[in-house]
Amino acid sequence: MTAKELRQKYLDFFKEKGHAIIPSAPLVPENDPTVLFTTAGMHPLVPFLMGEKHPKGKRLANVQKCIRTVDIDDVGDNCHNTFFEMLGNWSLGDYFKCEAIEWSFEFLTSEKWLGLDPRRIYVTVFEGDENAPRDEESVRIWQDQFTKAGVEVGVTDEDKIVNDKKRIIPLGADDNWWGPAGETGPCGPCTEMFYDVSPEKGALNGNFENLVKNNRLLEIWNDVFMEFNKKADATFERMKQQNVDTGMGLERTMVVMNGKDDIFDTEIFHPIVRKIEELSGKKYGDEENQRPMRIIADHLKSASFAVADGVEPSNVERGYVLRRLIRRAIRQGKILGIEDNFTSRIAEVVADIYKDVYPELEREKNKITEELTQEEVRFRTTLEKGLKKIKEIIAESRKEEKISGERAFYLFSTYGFPLELTKEIAAEHNISVDEENYHEEFKKHQELSRTVSAGMFKGGLADAGEKAAKLHTATHLLLAALRQVLGNHVIQKGSNITGERLRLDFSHDKKMTPEEIQKVEELVNEAISKDIPVKCEEMTLDDAQKAGALGVFGEKYGDKVKVYSVLDFSREICGGPHANATGELGKFRIVKEEASSAGVRRIKAVLE
Ligand code: SER
Repeated sequence: MTAKELRQKYLDFFKEKGHAIIPSAPLVPENDPTVLFTTAGMHPLVPFLMGEKHPKGKRLANVQKCIRTVDIDDVGDNCHNTFFEMLGNWSLGDYFKCEAIEWSFEFLTSEKWLGLDPRRIYVTVFEGDENAPRDEESVRIWQDQFTKAGVEVGVTDEDKIVNDKKRIIPLGADDNWWGPAGETGPCGPCTEMFYDVSPEKGALNGNFENLVKNNRLLEIWNDVFMEFNKKADATFERMKQQNVDTGMGLERTMVVMNGKDDIFDTEIFHPIVRKIEELSGKKYGDEENQRPMRIIADHLKSASFAVADGVEPSNVERGYVLRRLIRRAIRQGKILGIEDNFTSRIAEVVADIYKDVYPELEREKNKITEELTQEEVRFRTTLEKGLKKIKEIIAESRKEEKISGERAFYLFSTYGFPLELTKEIAAEHNISVDEENYHEEFKKHQELSRTVSAGMFKGGLADAGEKAAKLHTATHLLLAALRQVLGNHVIQKGSNITGERLRLDFSHDKKMTPEEIQKVEELVNEAISKDIPVKCEEMTLDDAQKAGALGVFGEKYGDKVKVYSVLDFSREICGGPHANATGELGKFRIVKEEASSAGVRRIKAVLE
């Protein structure tokens, strides 16, 4: 089965079950500062899981491109990626456990759909803890499903030994409670589906975790029952509605459907692996080459998608993640003996694989080539010397048994070695890195105030969400003020919000004068001082346009759109969320006005 067929089947199935198909959101979350990248299909849907009405209804499905780096160290094995596609379906306060599980089982096993063997399916459920009881309902529903299919189904004992009679495994919150990316937000128990990928090895019988570790069982789908909201004080409250959030891994399901046991041995990786073989003159079939080839293939795929969605390599936040991915791939290339610049050649193959589904790769081809090549050239000028230096440092650090933060920082600042790369090379020589000291060093140099590993928000989703909503409202006011001061040629070209500031890119071809900047600030602060309620109305796209609403994200929404207005000052089509009234915003200040690209200016502003 090809990826194209699998995507189509999934969407067709859920369409038959009354779901509206929504497009993949961008990898860079639009107004959510709690995550650097879209890590699951549920991310762009958080406001709707919390009770806002989605214009497409209560049943949604899509194929979402995701970048997730928590498992980055596992990339190199047969089943981990940083870039993957997630097939997802959602119930926003509509159906719940019964339908969700029934449909998962039907899609997996029905001959009309995937036709997988139900005897090779094993499922985990939440075993309960002090916050919520064991998920008996899911156990019962699974038992019904398997029994109807004529498959024996029992629940494992304490020892978690699974076999053809015991295929339901209760596990703790670490495995079966899906939580928010921030520390607060929608969450709940989940049930995960695993498939036996090597029945030829004999009857399955053993400890569940070992079978997963040894790649006999492969997780393919996760159904989350989101009915709780985790609050800042770490307690859980029931949400207004009971939601379902499921995610099925496309790459892993491809493996299962094609009788393989390696995601890199599927159609969406073959051409990349072939290209790496050609560039290196080495064979994927030789075991020692597999890890480096897999890392290169995965990381440069991620990098291509990230650049296509507007990310550029840098030393902070998502730019840093991108830098790490590219530099790690280059070093793995070196391990394979690739000495020439090669990253953009891999990116070309990636674009070719996905051109029908993600045309942005083709559209942004030049930009991807440029960014990857620049980064590669930059890194290669110091790579050789850096590799020599790190060897010396490792030798000198043997006595202390770890590389000091100071030295690790030196490798970063002088040779461009991201900390993670230094850690990886150090680990290959059985030595560690003093990370704490590294971060102190970093702060001293004021280069990276918020690293990825430090997380962007300590306060979690609720706190961050509130700040983001205010900055989001301020962005609307800013755009309206810019149009008043500079003219109606000003339209939004991009927006990005972190917990501290907003950033707005807009069309205008001259540097703004100090007077213009001051005037814009005054207009925004005037609107704030009037404490005007922010009004949200639902209307047809047509009516919204007639009402003069500025449409930035129009194409993403259904026939009905939400229009946020601040009296006649500002009116925009937008998904929200926003502050309730302008008075909540505080004082607005522009901190920077600069060129972004030809004909586009960029403003960074804060609320104080
Ligand atoms: N959010 C869940 C996951 O990522 C289901 O989509 O696994």
